[in-house]
Amino acid sequence: MSVNTWGRVGFFMVASTLFLSVTACGGGEGPPQPPPPAPPEYADKHMPPDYWNNPDIIEEGRQIYTGAQNIDVNCASCHGKDGKPVKAGARDFRRTDWMQLFSDSQWFWRVSEGVKGTKMKAWKSKLSEDERWKVIAYEATFGLKGKKYDPEKKAWVPDTD
Ligand code: HEC
Repeated sequence: MSVNTWGRVGFFMVASTLFLSVTACGGGEGPPQPPPPAPPEYADKHMPPDYWNNPDIIEEGRQIYTGAQNIDVNCASCHGKDGKPVKAGARDFRRTDWMQLFSDSQWFWRVSEGVKGTKMKAWKSKLSEDERWKVIAYEATFGLKGKKYDPEKKAWVPDTD
């Protein structure tokens, strides 16, 4: 083979390695991807409207999130006490751009059923529906403080009530 051919082979190897490393990176890096739609049994579940940004509810949610209420439920052990992940794979709850791709129903679905193939477990056997909404109300304060999800507009809007 000529020098020129080896040059091309080398270029191809470098180019394909770069391509693979770019396409292999998912998760917390790069532009955030919207989650799949919530399955039908979760699609119509919404946060009780007076829970958003309610200090009493958020305090109860914090107790759940940090494991203070039940040591077997400690979201902070992976997601970090301020929403900054401490375990690889968990995403950054402080990223507003990523957080607002979820609806309240999608958060509720993920917390209830977990995410298959990841460390995120289903929590529905450990937390009542009410407790799940409270922990979500707390979690929303990291990246979406002062906002609430409006199911009619299908968007996060300022919580002015
Ligand atoms: C053992 C580690 C661990 C614990 C404990 C944990 N999570 Fe997660 N969680 C993860 C990981 C990893 C992901 C990312 C899953 C993925 O790749 O989509 C995740 C994802 C999520 C998501 C977003 C779903 C998504 O599509 O990424 C929410 C919401 C969430 N966790 C909430 C909670 C709440 C609330 C608790 C406590 C009740 C909790 N997590 C406890 C590891 C954990």
